[in-house]
Amino acid sequence: MNLIFLGPPGAGKGTQAKNICNDYGVVQLSTGDILRANKKEGTPLGKTAQEYMDRGDLVPDDLIIKMIREEMKKPSCSNGCLLDGFPRTVVQARALEILLGEMGKKLDSVLVLDVPDEELVRRLSARLTCKSCGRSYNNIFNPPKVEGVCDDDGAELYQREDDSEKSIRNRLEIYKKMTSPLIDFYSNQDLCDEISGSGQINEIYSGIKNLLDKY
Ligand code: AP5
Ligand code: MG
Repeated sequence: MNLIFLGPPGAGKGTQAKNICNDYGVVQLSTGDILRANKKEGTPLGKTAQEYMDRGDLVPDDLIIKMIREEMKKPSCSNGCLLDGFPRTVVQARALEILLGEMGKKLDSVLVLDVPDEELVRRLSARLTCKSCGRSYNNIFNPPKVEGVCDDDGAELYQREDDSEKSIRNRLEIYKKMTSPLIDFYSNQDLCDEISGSGQINEIYSGIKNLLDKY
């Protein structure tokens, strides 16, 4: 299965991706997580990406496309992947079509998670992220078992630089302007499966499972 997870910042893409990957044997490719790992390691890509990310702007298409090409060609993706946070522009979506064509693969579904803006702001303002594995927690809605520590690997939790109120608002604007046109782009190919991202995390996942089981 090759899937795209489309949805605004805070919709729960990362949270739900973990469950999907566990149950369906696909690999999560989160462009945000890969960029944050590059930032942490101080690679040239990480250094260039940092200023865009901290403001909540998109990193230039050419850098992202080069990065995702390298990731998707790794053997770990041979059973399929869940693209979390890519594509985010029509230019990226067209580049993905070319890449999948070269690899003899196709997209099975574009899962679109929808959540109202005010709820997104509330979620992101209280989000905590694992420094090591990137898993998302939430002080209000989804706290870790032990305060400040990841349930999975015991690493420290931190607040992402782009989870400031100013950056959150910018990310929401950019999503509407640059990324939401992809819903039409993929609906025209009959690939979109829309899911409400409001409600309990496990209830939303049940809905996703019902959809995915048909593939
Ligand atoms: P990225 O890391 O992809 O960030 P994002 O798209 O803004 O999405 P988030 O990770 O913030 O949200 P999410 O949907 O994963 O939500 P989560 O599950 O964590 O990108 C970061 C930056 O990198 C971009 O701004 C850009 O600069 C750059 N970048 C990345 N990809 C790029 C690309 N393709 N092109 C150009 N630039 C790119 O959940 C959020 C919170 O809500 C958590 O606290 C969680 O616990 C909680 N939560 C989840 N579900 C629920 C629920 N049902 N009820 C209550 N709380 C919930
Ligand atoms: Mg995420």
